[in-house]
Amino acid sequence: MTDNSKIQRLRELRVQSRLGGGEKRIESQHKKGRLTARERLDLLLDKGSFREIDAFVQHRTNDFGLEKQKFLSDSVVTGWGTIDERLVYVYSQDFTVFGGSLGEVHAEKIVKILDMALKNGAPVIGLNDSGGARIQEGIVSLGGYADIFLRNTMASGVVPQISAIMGPCAGGAVYSPALTDFIFMVRDSSYMFVTGPEVVKSVTHEDVSFEELGGASVHSEISGVCHVVADSEADTLFLIRKLLSFLPSNNMEDVPFVQTNDETLRMEESLDTIIPDDPGKPYNMKDVIQKIVDNGQFFEIQESFAANIVVGFARLGGHSIGIVANQPAVLAGVLDINASEKAGRFVRFCDSFNIPILTFEDVPGFMPGTEQEHGGIIRAGAKLLYAYCEATVPKLTVITRKAYGGAYDVMSSKHTRGDINIAWPNAEIAVMGPDGAVNIIFRKEIKNAKDPIKRKAELVAEYREKFANPYVAAERGYIDDIIEPRETRPRLINALEMLSNKRDSNPAKKHGNIPL
Ligand code: HXC
Repeated sequence: MTDNSKIQRLRELRVQSRLGGGEKRIESQHKKGRLTARERLDLLLDKGSFREIDAFVQHRTNDFGLEKQKFLSDSVVTGWGTIDERLVYVYSQDFTVFGGSLGEVHAEKIVKILDMALKNGAPVIGLNDSGGARIQEGIVSLGGYADIFLRNTMASGVVPQISAIMGPCAGGAVYSPALTDFIFMVRDSSYMFVTGPEVVKSVTHEDVSFEELGGASVHSEISGVCHVVADSEADTLFLIRKLLSFLPSNNMEDVPFVQTNDETLRMEESLDTIIPDDPGKPYNMKDVIQKIVDNGQFFEIQESFAANIVVGFARLGGHSIGIVANQPAVLAGVLDINASEKAGRFVRFCDSFNIPILTFEDVPGFMPGTEQEHGGIIRAGAKLLYAYCEATVPKLTVITRKAYGGAYDVMSSKHTRGDINIAWPNAEIAVMGPDGAVNIIFRKEIKNAKDPIKRKAELVAEYREKFANPYVAAERGYIDDIIEPRETRPRLINALEMLSNKRDSNPAKKHGNIPL
């Protein structure tokens, strides 16, 4: 029989461990409008499912007076639990202990979790709130970070890795999240930067606030580092749960099936009139997506970054799919550097985790101009091309309107192993738009015509009639069918079911050389 006093001691230590940096610091965290590491885990995981490990771990440093400040659990809470009854591994950095900074044992705790997740095939969710490398521990902290970076890289493509930024994250604290699949941020309360405002001031003499340097709006609109922004910590954690519902637990699992009550044979008549008669007029591709997917539910990723392309998850007939769609409502849906990189990364994520890719195409081409050329649109566009070419998951493509030039090839064309490629009747599939094409091939004729404007209009009409339609491509089998827009949902669900046993592979290699 265990001595009662020993049980008592264990209980006391557990209580102490749960207090992290102590009541005062917990109060200060709450005053900033932030939750503690453990409160966050309670919201993230199914009620009562969290199992903590390493609650008795303490740091081993004796420099800078650290030996007098020891906290059970150190500055990170680790373990596992469930989300919608599916196993996940978690770590949650505790800002109340040394500002959540990462020293030797903090790193060891995260490494243990990553190793377990990789071995047991379950997602890892990291809740980050950390001042980066623990300065007092010196190089040991850097070593600890590198140990984590290595595990993040090894786990990439094996188990989904999700990072939430819940407070100020600096230095090494941003690089582990950057290696993971998705980064969530809390609006007005979370920050990511390699060096904080003070260092920036001393090096570049710039005066910049936390928010301007690395707030959620910077990373979701300008840098593209952040994938999902939420208005509160609770919302952030709720959205992580939602995202996970679309993902398999590891790369050997099929995508989750969720019974939806949306009819698989549902026709959507309003799609027949959604495309404006004038090919120059925009429409919102998200309306098209919502009318087709189960219950109109679309979980968008990187909503405010490169909005000329839309990516995210949805369900068709209950099965998860990844959607990539040109957005004619923003920059006419043109492919530029940011759009190519955003979509390329998303395609690769889906392919890693057996998630079929549905592409909606309405693209006038790649963005012309010196800014884009000098910025490397060739390299960026090649990333998207590469991602689609190497993807072996089921690939469905719907050309809703324009499919011009190189962008036609890139957007999951038949030639790049698209499985089912269909077009709506008003699709325009050609090397370039009628106006540009006529300007080039009939330049002399137009110049020498009696009435150049009239002649050009005639030639444009002729070109449009001849090339700007889906029948030339259909004649050659470059698209499998031309369908009435209203039929899109049943046709896609049928195609997805037809492809459910698809097996395709790439030549054996160590790894390819994507144009990074
Ligand atoms: C040790 C740290 C710490 C750190 C914060 N603290 N960061 N202790 N090492 N890196 C401690 C503070 O001393 C303080 O302790 C407590 O945590 C809370 O910090 P505050 O500064 O009071 O909080 P706040 O004003 O909210 O500012 C948070 C912060 C700031 C923006 C994160 O603390 C900060 O700039 N920290 C340093 C960031 C940094 O440069 N990190 C090193 C990066 S180098 P007391 O006891 O006083 O309350 C790095 C290299 C890895 O990470 C590279 C790998 C690729």
